[in-house]
Amino acid sequence: MPWTIGTLWVCALLAQSLWPISSEAANPDVLKPRVPQDQIVEARSWQNPFSSSPETIAQGKKIFEGKAFCVTCHGRDGKGLGKIPGLVGKLPRNFTDTAWQAARTDGELFWILKNGSPGTDMAPFIPLVLTENEAWHVLLYVRSFGKQ
Ligand code: HEC
Repeated sequence: MPWTIGTLWVCALLAQSLWPISSEAANPDVLKPRVPQDQIVEARSWQNPFSSSPETIAQGKKIFEGKAFCVTCHGRDGKGLGKIPGLVGKLPRNFTDTAWQAARTDGELFWILKNGSPGTDMAPFIPLVLTENEAWHVLLYVRSFGKQ
């Protein structure tokens, strides 16, 4: 096949999909469910018993930046601090990514706080660091990053 401009263009597109240079938002891996298949139906049925308000979000923010130290990996702006020395594997999530926000139910995020994200540096926080009620408040704060 002759090397036309068209073939070069296709090669460039392929190269970009193999070595993405754009932000994490363009990475389809981020959208893949983290909860194992055999537990996801149950996890998706869990609902946040608290509703989002300036007060509940503020409570979640306090925990996120304080005793649960989420901020050390996810950043004050929720965008994730990128590659952190000492950590391996996947990057901390960018909570301002609206495609990611839409791909997850509250129940799935709660499952992650209970179990961690398997095979990544995202550890379980319930019950050692967070009570279930605190976790739901932190999640209201995590959700608020997607609404800015
Ligand atoms: C040691 C660093 C670290 C800390 C501390 C941390 N996270 Fe994470 N978090 C990660 C990483 C890395 C991922 C990405 C895991 C993946 O790709 O599945 C992640 C993913 C997540 C996800 C998304 C999982 C999904 O379904 O896509 C949520 C929600 C989350 N973290 C919330 C929190 C909250 C809330 C706290 C504080 C209670 C916290 N994290 C503390 C590193 C951390």
